[in-house]
Amino acid sequence: MPTGSDLRQKYLDFFKQRGHVVIPPAPLVPESDPSTLFTSSGMQPLIPFLLGEPHPQGRRLVNIQPSFRAQDLEEVGDNRHTTFFEMLGNWSLGDYFKAEQLAWFWEFLTSVLKLSPDRLYVTVFAGNDAVPKDTLSAGILQKIGLKKDHLFYYGVENNWWSRSGPPDQMPESEPGGPDSEVFYDFGADLGIHEKSGFKDQKCHPNCDCGRFLEIGNSVFMQYQKNADGTLGELPQKNVDFGGGLERTLAAVQNTPDIFRTDLFYPIIDLAEKAADKSYADPAFQPQFRVIADHLKASVMLASDGVFPSNKAQGYILRRLIRRSVVKMRKLISGPVTDFCGRMVVAAGNIYREVYLSDSQIRQAAEIISAEVDKFDHVLTRGLKEITRYPKLDGKIAFNLLQTYGFPWELTYEIATDLGQHINPADFQTEFARHQTLSRTASRGMFKGGLRDQSEITTKYHTATHLLHQALRSTLGDHVSQKGSNITSDRLRFDFSHDQKLNPQEIQAVENLVNQKISENLPVTRQEMAKDEALKTGALAFFAQKYPDVVSVYTIGSQNNWYSREICGGPHVSSTGEIGKIKIVKEESAGSGVRRIYAQIIK
Ligand code: SER
Repeated sequence: MPTGSDLRQKYLDFFKQRGHVVIPPAPLVPESDPSTLFTSSGMQPLIPFLLGEPHPQGRRLVNIQPSFRAQDLEEVGDNRHTTFFEMLGNWSLGDYFKAEQLAWFWEFLTSVLKLSPDRLYVTVFAGNDAVPKDTLSAGILQKIGLKKDHLFYYGVENNWWSRSGPPDQMPESEPGGPDSEVFYDFGADLGIHEKSGFKDQKCHPNCDCGRFLEIGNSVFMQYQKNADGTLGELPQKNVDFGGGLERTLAAVQNTPDIFRTDLFYPIIDLAEKAADKSYADPAFQPQFRVIADHLKASVMLASDGVFPSNKAQGYILRRLIRRSVVKMRKLISGPVTDFCGRMVVAAGNIYREVYLSDSQIRQAAEIISAEVDKFDHVLTRGLKEITRYPKLDGKIAFNLLQTYGFPWELTYEIATDLGQHINPADFQTEFARHQTLSRTASRGMFKGGLRDQSEITTKYHTATHLLHQALRSTLGDHVSQKGSNITSDRLRFDFSHDQKLNPQEIQAVENLVNQKISENLPVTRQEMAKDEALKTGALAFFAQKYPDVVSVYTIGSQNNWYSREICGGPHVSSTGEIGKIKIVKEESAGSGVRRIYAQIIK
């Protein structure tokens, strides 16, 4: 039976044979994209190229992108939802379109993976006032062998894809388009629909019962939102395909439960033995699944440099770890640290040599174990705090969660044990109020994102290159980039240097950057072989994997440049556009690493 590794290889080989270049995956935490916390699909790092910028590797690309979707955190526990997953992706940047994409993916599923057409269902866009019904895709699908009664039409709620959902929710300049989704049917005879909470509704490919599993999505990305709210045509017609590796593997292995595949089961197997409980027991299945998914996601985030904290990515990592500890306590009695440590290693081993080295697995295990230990104290403190309240209610439960990270399920259980009852609806009301507030905040952040990318963050991006070079000129060539993060308010740059910068050094660096800005140096982009780029002295961020052909940004003239870096952009076209910068803070960012915050002040 093909394994996860076999499937990765088969997919890449198939598209390589059809003229695609394999591009390396992007980090899980995006480098210079303030509009989002995580890389949640393969297309995300490709936005500039889908909008028309030429990609250095050509117009046919393929890769497998580790992805994380925090919005699915609460969904984990059923047979198919996860937070971390690997996305199979292939793209046509204004090259082939519907005919090739639909036929190739069908061929991949039926000829390479040997899935029976009897099991495959495909959906296409039903059309609306602005975009016609996708009869072209329907015709192609039937020609290549899709059964007539296996073709379904849905509207924007199911068969439209953009990063922000249906057309009316797309911010200005966001690309999107109608899509065609392939579902694998595990068959009526398993009774999945009848045993589910959806048994009173008619089952169909998009039913939530779990009988049908969506395994691939071909987005025909040919539209972009205009400023006046209408949809305009992009300069090129793209294909953006994304498929779930884990789900496709479940289809290939014909198990409706993705947690039974080799991409999860090693973690569950260990947990079953340590807890002496069976995964087959439906009472424990959600716990096992949450633990397997969350620990795996935690390993991937921690090995990508995320530390548990109360902010941004760190907060999500903390939630993942804490939620898995709570579930572990439902499976085993007594301390969980050791148990958890062993499962973390099992989770890391699934990706050893694919994405992780031994030392990254060790590092992730240390970070996660420290948080597990800390959370044990949180639990102890929360348990003590609870005794201060004569009567528990939904609001107290929510405050305990907010203040101590004390999980709702535990407060609820304790209240029951004490003969009190908390109405879950009261807790939900508090929770929903808080969620609305944070959703509004993050929507604001996203809305600003695309515009930011073309304006202020582009300036910060170029300013970061100037800063990098100014630090090397002032402190020495041992300075190299260790990290970078840009928001619309500031840049943050981490670099190797083992001493605090004194005020004179900070001033010298700032002056140098501002001098290069006032010289209004040209910023130019070239494509070259990676080795060639490094030979010419281009700086690179070595924590990142680069493809063989890279884009290189040079600040200054070609024979007398000031800065040259391998970078995906975007950048301003001359440094004068930046304005003026100020270094607002300098601090340690770990041993041998300093961090600078700088702002554009005019
Ligand atoms: N962008 C689409 C998705 O995430 C297809 O790659 O589903």
